[in-house]
Amino acid sequence: MRFLSTRRKHPAAKPLTLLLALFMMGAVYSVVSPAEQSAADTNTNPQVVQGKGLYDVTCSSCHGLNGEGTSQAPSLIGVGAAAVDFQMGTRRMPLSKPMAQAPRDAAPEYTQEEIDAIAAYVATLGKGPKVPAESKYSPAGLSEEEIARGGELFRTNCSACHNIEGRGGALPNGAYAPSLTNVSSKHIYEALRTGPQQMPVFNEGALPDQDVKEIIGYLAEVREQPQYGGLELGGLGPVSEGFYGWIIGIGGLVLVAMWLAKKGARAR
Ligand code: HEC
Ligand code: HEC
Repeated sequence: MRFLSTRRKHPAAKPLTLLLALFMMGAVYSVVSPAEQSAADTNTNPQVVQGKGLYDVTCSSCHGLNGEGTSQAPSLIGVGAAAVDFQMGTRRMPLSKPMAQAPRDAAPEYTQEEIDAIAAYVATLGKGPKVPAESKYSPAGLSEEEIARGGELFRTNCSACHNIEGRGGALPNGAYAPSLTNVSSKHIYEALRTGPQQMPVFNEGALPDQDVKEIIGYLAEVREQPQYGGLELGGLGPVSEGFYGWIIGIGGLVLVAMWLAKKGARAR
């Protein structure tokens, strides 16, 4: 007792206890904080919070409250920000009602900021392809040889489903590979890396960024080519023009004949 009480009265006792307390707090903090930090990252990052809010209202009914998927729609765990940017950027998602293949340009338009927010939230669910920087997909500066090589790569890897000129085609079970003539470079890149629906995923091992750029360059060239009449033969253009010509031409003749008949009847 006597020993303890003298110890307590030692002039250094108070500062020492303080130091010890501070040290302990530091130690506890350093153990706890890394875990706290990563949890805090997803729970307090304002973009993720905004994305989760939008997700809960627009997507969770089909994809589940935590992106785990339902009988209506696949899981979004690990699909990555690129899949969200692609699906919402091409206005496939949010789908209006469950169906086998989400049509392009059918969903309401969201701002890029809202899309980025939902993409940021979905990226926290699991590791997946990121939204690419422009340097990864821009075909600017490709040489003629590189674009020709892109054409070869396209014929080998894509034309079986999308047709040689990227005009699209039907697939078994009512599915279809859409025309690629009006797809932005970013969305082409994202489609390859995320493999929407029946399309296979082409990862960087299968098609490195340079190959993808060359394919994008080839598709851009096909798009810019003027459409000569010969290419349209068998297309719908001339057929419908002929059809309208026929309706208006024959229709006009019929009207004239009726007018003549009436006039003739009156004259008699
Ligand atoms: C009416 C139900 C429905 C709603 C609402 C909906 N989805 Fe989907 N989603 C689907 C179905 C069905 C598919 C699979 C068919 C397809 O990809 O064409 C799908 C596919 C996806 C994919 C592709 C997954 C993959 O494996 O690549 C993404 C990403 C996605 N949805 C995101 C969203 C986001 C984000 C929202 C909200 C803005 C949303 N969806 C709203 C039904 C829905
Ligand atoms: C097995 C058939 C198949 C192959 C091979 C394939 N695709 Fe696709 N692709 C599809 C289908 C099916 C879709 C539509 C997905 C959807 O509607 O969700 C699609 C969609 C796309 C889209 C999105 C178009 C849009 O309207 O937004 C792009 C871009 C695309 N493919 C590019 C390619 C390229 C480039 C290749 C070759 C490297 C390729 N695809 C190989 C079947 C295929």
